[in-house]
Amino acid sequence: MNFELTETQLMIRETARKFAEEELAPSADERDEQEKFPAEAVRKMGELGFMGMMVSEEYGGAGLDTVSYVLAVEEISKVDASAGVIMSVNNSLVCWGLETYGSGYQKEKYLKDLASGRTLGAFALSEPEAGSDATNQRTTARKDGDFYILNGTKNFITNGSTADVVLVMASTDKSLGARGVSTFVVEKGIPGFSVAKKEKKLGIRSSDTVSLAFEDCRIPKENLVKEEGFGIKFALRTLDGGRIGIAAQALGIAQGSLEASLKYSKQRTAFGHPIAKFQALQFKLADMATNIEAARLLCHKAALLKDQGKPFGPAAAMAKLYASKVAVASALEAVQIHGGYGYVREYKVERFLRDSKITEIYEGTSEIQRIVIARSVLD
Ligand code: CAA
Repeated sequence: MNFELTETQLMIRETARKFAEEELAPSADERDEQEKFPAEAVRKMGELGFMGMMVSEEYGGAGLDTVSYVLAVEEISKVDASAGVIMSVNNSLVCWGLETYGSGYQKEKYLKDLASGRTLGAFALSEPEAGSDATNQRTTARKDGDFYILNGTKNFITNGSTADVVLVMASTDKSLGARGVSTFVVEKGIPGFSVAKKEKKLGIRSSDTVSLAFEDCRIPKENLVKEEGFGIKFALRTLDGGRIGIAAQALGIAQGSLEASLKYSKQRTAFGHPIAKFQALQFKLADMATNIEAARLLCHKAALLKDQGKPFGPAAAMAKLYASKVAVASALEAVQIHGGYGYVREYKVERFLRDSKITEIYEGTSEIQRIVIARSVLD
């Protein structure tokens, strides 16, 4: 067992930290306030290789491991969790899925641009009646000669209105239930494809979350991923990896909350001393640091298992379950440590608290993570 990061991993962490401090930090609050998508920052993340970190260089990616990816998502999310999820969805759900299961044609046509950050991707599984119950897909794709005709609505789609390419899960054969779901690569701008509703959110307000509507969209048959009926396996396998990215995002929010609390408690004086001198404060900081380190170890372990080609789904679920809980608890504690200043916008921990909650909800609620973990321990 070795807890040391490699030279490359340390370099990636440093690059992400510098980028987050220089490019994201100055405008993160304003973007949150105005619900403004960080288009310029996303473009620069592409140039740095952060949008297709685990994709091989052959397909425009950075050819890095999952541990490096986790380190980068944590650093980005420590400063701006919205940028963290934009990056995470493109890397884990879109690029990974296409590189692993896409055809040569799909990789040439779509993956190269997605992995290099020239285009952005979204992953459309959730529907009004298919959230946790992901297999209950109402969107349909009916075969018509060399095309599939796509009809339905997807909701809560991260990157939905900004994406150039969307991976859409749809039923190609209702009678087969979960085994009749397929995945399609859908290009923005095709007739019948529209953005139905932009969500106004509690947190991660500068990420783009929308509903998408498909009305008789003609999808060329070359855009079916792998084969008919592979859609649920595609989605759930991809989400296993996605959960590592969300665990890293949660970790970033928790670490950001701790660092803000450390800074504030050294500066703020009460009863004649910096509040960091009081044991009541020190105990809070010690608990936060311990929980965050435990979450980081779970997260890195899941990433390492994935890199070693070993089964990692339950480990990813554990990392996400625990890191998201730690994110919410750390952000809440950070607000408490800041007192009244924690409740106002100036000190950022109010944003961290709002941003933290979603990590217990998307890419499977905490209850879903427990189902995945329970199945593996009962197996
Ligand atoms: N990998 C591959 N296949 C899997 C799998 C996995 N991890 N888990 C299940 N499957 C397969 C099963 O083998 C089964 O296939 P067969 O019938 O051929 O054997 C099929 O999928 C259905 O599985 P289950 O019968 O186990 O399905 P279930 O409904 O009982 O439970 C679940 C599955 C774990 C609850 C699953 O539905 C799930 O994870 N739900 C949560 C979905 C989710 O995470 N949504 C997030 C939306 S995306 C998002 O949030 C992105 C964003 O915006 C940031």
